[in-house]
Amino acid sequence: MRKQLIQKVNDPMTKTDAFISIRNVNKFFGKFQAINDVSIDIGHGEFFSLLGSSGCGKTTLLRMLAGFENPTSGEIYIDGQPMSGVPPHHRPVNMVFQSYAIFPHLNVRDNIAYGLRKQKLSRSKRNAMVDEMLDLIKLPDYGDRKANQLSGGQRQRIALARSLILRPKVLLLDEPLGALDKQLREQMQLELRALQKTVGITFVFVTHDQEEALTLSDRIAVMSNGRDLQVDTPTRLYESPMDREVASFIGTMNFFDGTVKALTDGGAEIETAGIGDVYTTNIPPSLTPGQSVSVAIRPEKLTLSSDGHGGSNTVKGRLDNAAYLGERSHYYVSVDGVPQPVAVSAQNRQRANGNAESQRPVWLSWDDNAFVVLGNG
Ligand SMILES: Nc1ncnc2c1ncn2[C@@H]1O[C@H](COP(=O)(O)OP(=O)(O)O)[C@@H](O)[C@H]1O
Ligand SMILES: [Mg+2]
Repeated sequence: MRKQLIQKVNDPMTKTDAFISIRNVNKFFGKFQAINDVSIDIGHGEFFSLLGSSGCGKTTLLRMLAGFENPTSGEIYIDGQPMSGVPPHHRPVNMVFQSYAIFPHLNVRDNIAYGLRKQKLSRSKRNAMVDEMLDLIKLPDYGDRKANQLSGGQRQRIALARSLILRPKVLLLDEPLGALDKQLREQMQLELRALQKTVGITFVFVTHDQEEALTLSDRIAVMSNGRDLQVDTPTRLYESPMDREVASFIGTMNFFDGTVKALTDGGAEIETAGIGDVYTTNIPPSLTPGQSVSVAIRPEKLTLSSDGHGGSNTVKGRLDNAAYLGERSHYYVSVDGVPQPVAVSAQNRQRANGNAESQRPVWLSWDDNAFVVLGNG
């Protein structure tokens, strides 16, 4: 119930401009339910990601968009047309896989032109289209290279070009950067985003990497066990996750048990066991006084200091652990009445001088609205 409310409020699209509409889709493999009542609308030209851990159903959903699998029930619409019974090659989509299946014995040009072979095009028209793609993927001089003389990043660009030359309305990408090392992967993320802006078509991108999804996407569907938990912009997923599962999947989050004390000025005052009363306007609809909730805060929204006072928005604790990571440090602080150590992240603006002394008393403080209230249950 709450999920639907939030999606309606946050969803920047209205039904009419949904370019892809996944409506109440279920998918069973035998008795196993891989997709459980998923409904998602994706706008024209959106960079949309399906994010979730391995086995949650991302590939299955993508394969149903492509037409390689059929929903057991529910319907998928693309560009206003119902897709049931429409075979893959009649859908306005193309798919790029993680293992870039390009042909090692063909050169780059022939790889890119591969999908055009059934179309009756003149040689000059075909060459012009390939040239355009080589420019687009920034490999204008690589046309005559053999595919096995290319790096992983270059091969993946060829795979993208080979899909894009067919001018699909939707490009489906299944963990396309998964095989690349971290540095190349980050570079390719930027290129992919720029490419999507240039061609202006809808991308549906699958990843299990939350940072990658946050970097690339206009919106993200967080998936778990075949369900879509929350569909939202990266900022809203990070700042206002709907529940503990989404909150812990995207980044690190500290959770505290609490009770709604009062509702005032569009926000709520929450009484907690360990950190006193917390006020925030980041609340779900339909909170009621007396209700049990969780309040949550990101590590970087807490400030750690050696001296403090007993005022509001502060709590005393003991430093359990500190990890120096160069640019920033992570601290773990035990607080009476809080079962888990509280994670705090701070940028090392000044030169750090070694790890802090353990078990020394410290103070945590925060701003109003730094917390988000999650409904329990
Ligand atoms: N053809 C199939 N037959 C049986 N089970 C399948 C088949 N395809 C996928 N599954 C199962 O469905 C679940 C979701 O798989 P998948 O969509 O590949 O997950 P993801 O891409 O998120 O890692 C997994 O438990 C997987 O084992
Ligand atoms: Mg997969």
